Amino acid sequence: MNEMKPSITNTDAVWEWFGKNQPYFGVLVDTKYTNEQLNEEAKNNFFASGKAHVDFVLETIKEHFDTNFTIQRALDFGCGVGRLTIPLSAACGQVVGVDASPSMLQEATKNAKEMAAENIEFLLADDDLSKVESESFDFINSFIVFQHIPVAVDIVSCNDC
Ligand SMILES: C[S@@+](CC[C@H](N)C(=O)[O-])C[C@H]1O[C@@H](n2cnc3c(N)ncnc32)[C@H](O)[C@@H]1O
Repeated sequence: MNEMKPSITNTDAVWEWFGKNQPYFGVLVDTKYTNEQLNEEAKNNFFASGKAHVDFVLETIKEHFDTNFTIQRALDFGCGVGRLTIPLSAACGQVVGVDASPSMLQEATKNAKEMAAENIEFLLADDDLSKVESESFDFINSFIVFQHIPVAVDIVSCNDC
């Protein structure tokens, strides 16, 4: 961690700092996910946690809402390094992963390539989601993201809806 962290009030800049310096630890705060300790086993564990989460969500939807639930196009808002986006892509026609941090997206793109997940498009997010606004999705996922966005940003976005 050799670079000064930006001000906590500029959350996009903070996330870019994590994306650039400690992407896996930034997503799941556990010392085994720091760059210094991240080994193959820890990385497998990291992505297994994402698959378990996606399986749980999809099974819950099938159990309680629609036994035949299928997804053509999904959006993963705040996708980080692809921990959920990549397992989600195995259950969908196509997934769009958006994130405010270019470095997180760069790592996510590398991970998707390594795992041969070819039906994912990664896009840089802005508060208006301008790059995805004309698209439609039948499933939107966002996990451990909104609590990191200042309320004022949420309100501005909602007033524009
Ligand atoms: C704790 S990580 C969670 C990543 C992923 N959802 C997961 O569970 O593996 C939070 C992510 O949200 C992203 N993020 C934070 N604010 C955002 C915003 N305003 N728009 C899009 N992404 C944002 C961060 O860059 C970071 O990758």
